[in-house]
Amino acid sequence: MSPMADEELSQSQTQNSPKFSTDLFQGFWHRPSLIPNIIAFQKHFQAHDNDIVIASKPKSGTTWLKSLVFTIVNRTRYSLSNTPLNTSNPHDLVPCFEYDLYKNQVPNNLTSISTPRLFSTHIPYSSLPESIKLSDCRIVYIARNPFDVIVSLWHFLKLPKPITLEECYEMFCRGEEPFGPYWDHVLEYWKESLERPNKVLFIKYEDMKEDPNSIIKNLADFIGFPISMEEEEMGIIEDILELCSLENLKNLKVNKEGKNRYSTRENKTYFRKGEVGDYVNYFSPSSIQRFSKIIEEKLGGSGLTF
Ligand code: A3P
Repeated sequence: MSPMADEELSQSQTQNSPKFSTDLFQGFWHRPSLIPNIIAFQKHFQAHDNDIVIASKPKSGTTWLKSLVFTIVNRTRYSLSNTPLNTSNPHDLVPCFEYDLYKNQVPNNLTSISTPRLFSTHIPYSSLPESIKLSDCRIVYIARNPFDVIVSLWHFLKLPKPITLEECYEMFCRGEEPFGPYWDHVLEYWKESLERPNKVLFIKYEDMKEDPNSIIKNLADFIGFPISMEEEEMGIIEDILELCSLENLKNLKVNKEGKNRYSTRENKTYFRKGEVGDYVNYFSPSSIQRFSKIIEEKLGGSGLTF
């Protein structure tokens, strides 16, 4: 552990909740067990110029984006009928730095990963290793309406933890949820995408739902695997979207029954309803008003809206 990291750790504040605890580290709240992994990632990771990093707050559409990026990048290597996506969970195909690769704090052997290397992370932009920021590698960030994120996270957390929706909501209002505050996380990537549009592509889950074809084309261009006119005429975009659709992935044997390589969670927990705006069925008008006000205050003037 570097001296700087030691100092940062000693400055961390702890929120002691009997149900869910997060520590403040470099301005964001993290599960305590993840902090050493983040430090190891910061210390050891060396980016390659052609790496592609998928970044997100949990429950914002990471699994969907992983399956899309994997498919776009590998579309000449595998046909859509024999793609590894049919037999592997997207999280196994695109490993996460802090949960998977630096799980034991020692740098994982990354040389066996085929190029371009695909990675993912939930950590904020400011905490990324310098080599990611300074190299030419690309970052694709996916953001989602915060209310749908809360509902999705609650469904995900409540399986192993007896947390109520209200507790989850309050955690977001305080900004103390894992990888929170929500507003700082989205804003950091949003600002970077405006300042360095060739470095960071900012995608909204809602836009992917509304106009997936143009998002896919833009995404493919950004990561350096553009879709040709000929491919487009052959319907490749529709094929990719069908393969990576919630319905298709959810019903694959691997995602119905398996667990991914790194997690104790069942693959099926990553696929639920995938709806936009379903939060209205969970929150009272006053709860919506209260958190909307916080979000408006925090994102106000940035040009970012949900
Ligand atoms: P819901 O819980 O609202 O259904 P993440 O992948 O970041 O953990 O986000 C999970 C959310 O994305 C869940 O939302 C899940 O259902 C949805 N999701 C997973 N795969 C998807 C896909 N292929 N298309 C659209 N949404 C998907």
